[in-house]
Amino acid sequence: MALSSKCLLLFISLLLGYGVLQLEATADNQPYRTSYHFQPPKNWMNGPMLYKGIYHLFFQYNPKGAIWGNIVWGHSTSTDLVNWTPHEAAIYPSQPSDINGCWSGSATILPKGRPVILYTGIDPNNHQVQNLAMPKNLSDPFLREWVKSHDNPLMAPNFYNKINSSSFRDPTTGWLGRDGYWRVIIGNKINQKGLAILYKSKDFVHWEEAKNPLYSSKNSGMWECPDFYPVLIKSQLGIDTSIDGPNTNHVLKVSLDDTKHDYYKIGSYNQDKDIFIPDNGPFHKNSRLRYDYGKFYASKTFFEGNSKHRRILWGWVNESSSVENDIKKGWSGVQAIPRSIWLDNSGKQLVQWPIKEIETLRLKEVNLPKQVLKGGSVLEVSGVTAAQADVIITFEISELSKAEVLDPSWTDPQLLCSRKGASVKGGIGPFGLLVLASKGLQEYTAVFYRIFKSHSKYVVLMCSDQSRSSFNHENDETTYGAFVDVDPVHEKLSLRSLIDHSIVESFGGEGKACITARVYPTLATDAEAHLYAFNNGTGNVVITTLSAWSMKKAQIN
Ligand SMILES: *[C@@H]1O[C@H](CO)[C@@H](O)[C@H](O)[C@H]1NC(C)=O
Ligand SMILES: *[C@@H]1O[C@H](CO)[C@@H](O)[C@H](O)[C@H]1NC(C)=O
Ligand SMILES: *[C@@H]1O[C@H](CO)[C@@H](O)[C@H](O)[C@H]1NC(C)=O
Ligand SMILES: *[C@@H]1O[C@H](CO)[C@@H](O)[C@H](O)[C@H]1NC(C)=O
Repeated sequence: MALSSKCLLLFISLLLGYGVLQLEATADNQPYRTSYHFQPPKNWMNGPMLYKGIYHLFFQYNPKGAIWGNIVWGHSTSTDLVNWTPHEAAIYPSQPSDINGCWSGSATILPKGRPVILYTGIDPNNHQVQNLAMPKNLSDPFLREWVKSHDNPLMAPNFYNKINSSSFRDPTTGWLGRDGYWRVIIGNKINQKGLAILYKSKDFVHWEEAKNPLYSSKNSGMWECPDFYPVLIKSQLGIDTSIDGPNTNHVLKVSLDDTKHDYYKIGSYNQDKDIFIPDNGPFHKNSRLRYDYGKFYASKTFFEGNSKHRRILWGWVNESSSVENDIKKGWSGVQAIPRSIWLDNSGKQLVQWPIKEIETLRLKEVNLPKQVLKGGSVLEVSGVTAAQADVIITFEISELSKAEVLDPSWTDPQLLCSRKGASVKGGIGPFGLLVLASKGLQEYTAVFYRIFKSHSKYVVLMCSDQSRSSFNHENDETTYGAFVDVDPVHEKLSLRSLIDHSIVESFGGEGKACITARVYPTLATDAEAHLYAFNNGTGNVVITTLSAWSMKKAQIN
């Protein structure tokens, strides 16, 4: 398969994408294997869902470990989104319409609680087509066996629709319109224009392409894993994908194949015209709003009804190590901790927070009393297993007058963080956490803030600096950054990091900006890992609270 088509497969998991393989990893002697992040032997994310109180997670899996024929849907279930039980593959090539692979898709719960899956199959001509599968036995709580529709493929490129047959994949969860028609969108590309092609159906089996796409944007490249869902205004509760009421906005998320980031737009959905109208402009490769400003791709949300009423986001987190090292360790890719996601009160962005179930893994709480963290100081947080921890720190900034002036040309937060890493002294900041740090600070990942003055207001920059995370510099050590919409004069500034051996998921401003990093320390592994708070600015900051917990190991397959 040509290099260019590797990404088509995207979901085929990273490893596969590189043409590498298999490897049932053992947890022993594996300093980078995570303990509470979901990790199948290989993975990538498919449609998650909840059915009769059981969460289902499907992921791309190659049972033969060979290159990418044989791509099947691996399947695990959970009752708490933390501990997972493996099952046999749910969907595997068995029909002409998927004989060359069962790629990504989504689950939808039809009326009377009937779950179905729409997924992309690769047909004998290597064309991407959309197929339907249903559980064989609805009384089986684990829905272990799935049968396919005899009508497959249900949607296919042809002479009339002129859909690009090598860029037509990843159907979304369906939503039901007021007219009684189900709708789904599918990612597509024509030349460099990315599109969300809309299909409509009365019965979920016979689908017709709508006259216009739900939305499209020039020069954005292929849209993988689109996601489209409503969010409530001024509420943290999630709502069903089909709801389209007066108190809602809609979110369109796309995974841009060309940049490997997940971008979203908030806007309105005009159901009569079947178009999405974003509040500000089309997608492009520098679009500002992202779910995560580090490594996080090909994500999907699902709505959880019952008593919880939340929308949950799952994302897939690639490795940053070299392919050779991935082969050596025998696995690649993990799932981020599922996050609740809702619309910020400002209406201008989404907010994400780790699902509360993850707190059941917290073991021993360590607290630090309120104290001043002087410019140039480092403070160890001892008593936690720093390689496997959850930490929340909140700051109060007492000397804002020392903030540096933000140059108007500093508009790219990632670039600004890479120029002003943890070792570049500022006025207010860098201050934050040093995680997966070695005792003598030869290695650490610095997750921190820096505050700038811009006219009459302050601008908060959040960074994750991996440049000193490992002595092994073959890893991708890109520094990540995001601006956080917090007013440091009136609001507290908080930072939470979920640390799990080789992954650091950080939430700034109570979930207004998220940055996920993959790091591979050589000294700061397991019991040799330490956790510190630090302030490398000239101005003092105050730690108002700091709580840290050791995290138990979850049962992952
Ligand atoms: C369906 O699943 C239930 C529960 O596991 C089981 O008791 C029943 O025998 C299954 N039916 C068939 C036809 O396999
Ligand atoms: C169709 O998609 C393939 C794979 O990305 C791409 O190489 C090709 O240029 C696309 N064709 C058109 C007309 O966009
Ligand atoms: C995975 O990470 C590698 C190394 O950082 C990067 O080159 C590659 O583009 C990433 N792939 C995806 C699909 O994110
Ligand atoms: C703080 O800054 C000094 C001077 O630039 C640098 O040597 C040191 O490594 C920095 N500390 C951290 C934790 O980055």
